[in-house]
Amino acid sequence: MNIRCAKVSDLMNMQHCNLLCLPENYQLKYYMYHGLSWPQLSYIAEDDNQRIVGYVLAKMEEDDDEPHGHITSLAVQREYRRLGLAQKLMNQTARAMVEVHNCKYVSLHVRVSNRAAYHLYSVVLQFRTTETEPKYYADGEDAYAMRRDLVDWARQYGYKPPHPEKFFAVEKKGRRQGKEKEPSGPPAVEAARTAMENLSVNAVASSENAKETGDQAVESTEKEVVKDDSAVNSDGQTATKKKNRRKK
Ligand SMILES: CC(C)(COP(=O)(O)OP(=O)(O)OC[C@H]1O[C@@H](n2cnc3c(N)ncnc32)[C@H](O)[C@@H]1OP(=O)(O)O)[C@@H](O)C(=O)NCCC(=O)NCCS
Repeated sequence: MNIRCAKVSDLMNMQHCNLLCLPENYQLKYYMYHGLSWPQLSYIAEDDNQRIVGYVLAKMEEDDDEPHGHITSLAVQREYRRLGLAQKLMNQTARAMVEVHNCKYVSLHVRVSNRAAYHLYSVVLQFRTTETEPKYYADGEDAYAMRRDLVDWARQYGYKPPHPEKFFAVEKKGRRQGKEKEPSGPPAVEAARTAMENLSVNAVASSENAKETGDQAVESTEKEVVKDDSAVNSDGQTATKKKNRRKK
């Protein structure tokens, strides 16, 4: 078994692996978008015959105040599970996020019913839940939004960010001034607090979204991209419905 950075020539086989493992599927152009924009961030696990049996598809969220990494998709084929592949894939991409993009944290969404992935993220990889997003997925299921802080982790393993002053700066400032306190308590409390803080941000975002057309989905939030892309994959009719709904 080998884990390595994904190449453009791997993207079609990553898409195949995704189709076998997950209901969130994307057009090939969305894989290309990741592979060409952030070539260091996506990884694959391949067997001895160079067949892709697992992948992590990752990107940068660069529009936020604090640019950070984001996991778009992770999957390991059933017969290769519980071998530590997902954990390794996730750590490889996190390391690249630190060493290439100076990322202080990485985010993701997971279905509230996905116990395997939630356990991997929360217990093994130390992600914390920042909020619950109602009806995040196209079928109406809620998502946990999760985040893993990478600063202490990178320090522990000696990973070197390209801009160490900036990478370590906020954390030091937060400690000194007693600001940016780590959220504590159960996810619901954090979710409520985040939701309150996001109210004004969402108001701005919705007015901006109203101006978007369907073709600009890739520029928009990942939630919309996921819905849009999966919709286009299943059938054009559904895609039209979703685009119309979003424009309202
Ligand atoms: C979630 C998934 C990626 C995990 O892949 P994996 O390679 O089996 O995970 P790992 O072997 O690295 O697991 C590491 C640890 O995560 C936890 N974990 C993984 N699968 C688990 C499960 N089914 N139940 C409970 N804990 C689990 C365990 O703590 C495990 O360590 P252990 O095997 O020593 O107990 C895989 O089950 C999968 O592809 N599922 C379908 C796609 C999916 O749900 N992707 C995530 C979308 S957000």
